[in-house]
Amino acid sequence: MKISALDLKKQIAPIRQELDAAIKEVIDNTSFILGAGVDKFERHVVEYSGAKYAIGVSNGTDAISLSLLALGIKAGDGVICPAFTYYATAGAVANIGARPVFADIDEDTYNISLKSIERILSRKNRRMPFKIKAIIPVHLYGACADMDGILKLTRKHKIKVVEDTAQAFGAEYQGKKAGTMGDCGAVSFYPGKNLGAFGDAGLVLTNNKAVAEKLKILRNQGNKNKYYHLVLGRNNRMDTIQAAVLDIKLKYLDLWNKSRQQVAQYYNRNLAGLDIKLPIVPVYSTHIYHQYTLRAPVSNKAFVEHLQAKGIDSRIFYPVPLHLQKCFKYLGYKAGDFPQAEKAAKQTFTLPIYPDLTGEEKDYIIQSVKEFK
Ligand SMILES: Cc1ncc(COP(=O)(O)O)c(C=O)c1O
Repeated sequence: MKISALDLKKQIAPIRQELDAAIKEVIDNTSFILGAGVDKFERHVVEYSGAKYAIGVSNGTDAISLSLLALGIKAGDGVICPAFTYYATAGAVANIGARPVFADIDEDTYNISLKSIERILSRKNRRMPFKIKAIIPVHLYGACADMDGILKLTRKHKIKVVEDTAQAFGAEYQGKKAGTMGDCGAVSFYPGKNLGAFGDAGLVLTNNKAVAEKLKILRNQGNKNKYYHLVLGRNNRMDTIQAAVLDIKLKYLDLWNKSRQQVAQYYNRNLAGLDIKLPIVPVYSTHIYHQYTLRAPVSNKAFVEHLQAKGIDSRIFYPVPLHLQKCFKYLGYKAGDFPQAEKAAKQTFTLPIYPDLTGEEKDYIIQSVKEFK
């Protein structure tokens, strides 16, 4: 049997006519960037998320950079990021000239560790030649970071919060949608995300009117009215075709996330008792299982090789923590700096999880995990 990590054909087939009609409308209107189609999608995201403002942008990475810029983060400012996340979290910081400051993760949730943040913020004899101005908690794999704990610290230290909601759009923290608790929430609609476009797209959530207005200017070359450029902006606009596709798919997101939770519960029931650690859902958060992540007792490599040999597209997210990536060498970190991030990179691996997995496929995956020696 061959089971891919994700099967978008199966997701698209039942809603194909709706999607085709929405794309046709954009082509007929020949309005391809921003405009009424993007405004409509932004309104629907506001309704869905409960955030006051939603600003459609080019992708999730730009959503993070734009959020930081709109919050006044400048070149040379320090921005705390978890050491275990996708590259873009810290890449978006470094690419506006700010400095990623890495923190370790929690052993159970894989999200940023409060203790590690506290340690960074309270370093008395900080000989850092920069000030920490913001933090980016990532809601990794689809469950929220400990936002109450994080917000308590950030209020005390007066730093801004950009929630990296790339993997958790639709997840809830004590009834509040991920991305709506910090100063900004950055969302990715990369095609493989739980809500995926047909190309690159992203969005910023915020409750602050002034920040929302800045974001609209920054995403569109720094102008409010055409050809009058108020600030040095960027070309980070959302394509109208992507907004049209996302507006259709948004109606199904909760249903799809619920199916993912059912697949996860089925895996949990059937994998319990093995010598692997199952995903932990923190009491304060729902989990929308962008990834279903297991922890092997020693090494993930052999597990993934075994599953791949069985035709199952198991993956390692992420094999190298960010503080050990070549591109961040200039920051001066070394092996051993963030033990939990390093351990997670060595031990964790994923199983395919998406709403359309058949019973036969799920059982084959479970059986194959159990066969691992
Ligand atoms: C945690 C995280 N942050 C940021 C991003 C960047 O999003 P995008 O690929 O839309 O730029 C992604 C997704 O790729 C991600 O998983």
